[in-house]
Amino acid sequence: MNIYEAIYLRKTVRDFNEKDIDEDIIRKIIDAGLQAPTNNHMRQWEFIIIKDKASRLKVIDKIVNNTTKEDSEKIIDKWGMTDQLQREMYIEAIPKQYQMLLTAGCLIIPCFYQSKPLLKPSNLSDLNSFASIWCCIENILLTAASEGIFGVTRIPFDKEIEHLREVLKIPEDYEFPCYLALGYPDENVKQIRQHEIKAEDRMHFNKW
Ligand SMILES: Cc1cc2nc3c(=O)[nH]c(=O)nc-3n(C[C@H](O)[C@H](O)[C@H](O)COP(=O)(O)O)c2cc1C
Repeated sequence: MNIYEAIYLRKTVRDFNEKDIDEDIIRKIIDAGLQAPTNNHMRQWEFIIIKDKASRLKVIDKIVNNTTKEDSEKIIDKWGMTDQLQREMYIEAIPKQYQMLLTAGCLIIPCFYQSKPLLKPSNLSDLNSFASIWCCIENILLTAASEGIFGVTRIPFDKEIEHLREVLKIPEDYEFPCYLALGYPDENVKQIRQHEIKAEDRMHFNKW
């Protein structure tokens, strides 16, 4: 598969089948992640891979597990979200946050070295490590797609971050940007409608 095919194939998936992901494939896609550009030439990234369901239950313990579609609508109404396709995505996604992390073939916690407080940057460079790990995550998502494996990233809330740090023994000078759940898609996975964006409509030559 060439790079364009993998890019157009990748989509967020939150419903998985039971099929296990071979550890050799996990190693291959993390290795692809490790080829991503890095701010300081060091690629100070570590990956906690949680396949075992019992350990995973402990990890996702702080995530709300009973949000309904109706609750989701109320949440996004409160946010003032009006775009129809965006609303559809959130109404589909919010109730699945717990289940998707539990049922994915594997859950990865990508960690990156962060010496200064991540949420108190004083300039853009202070966010370089955070930016770099997302380059790494995109490499993982694209190579996973080329292997027929799809997934989703979830941004943790503060109480989840504290919990994971404790349960997974993440050192104080490492942060994690998201949970990364990967697996083989369920055969009934719903296609979420997307806005079609044409590159030519977003391109500005010489000035905006
Ligand atoms: C930075 C970032 C944060 C995201 N956070 C979440 C999340 O917390 N939960 C979730 O289910 N999906 C999350 N997503 C997935 C997006 O909802 C998804 O990428 C978007 O709807 C576009 O769909 P696509 O990935 O299928 O193209 C996140 C994606 C990104 C890039």
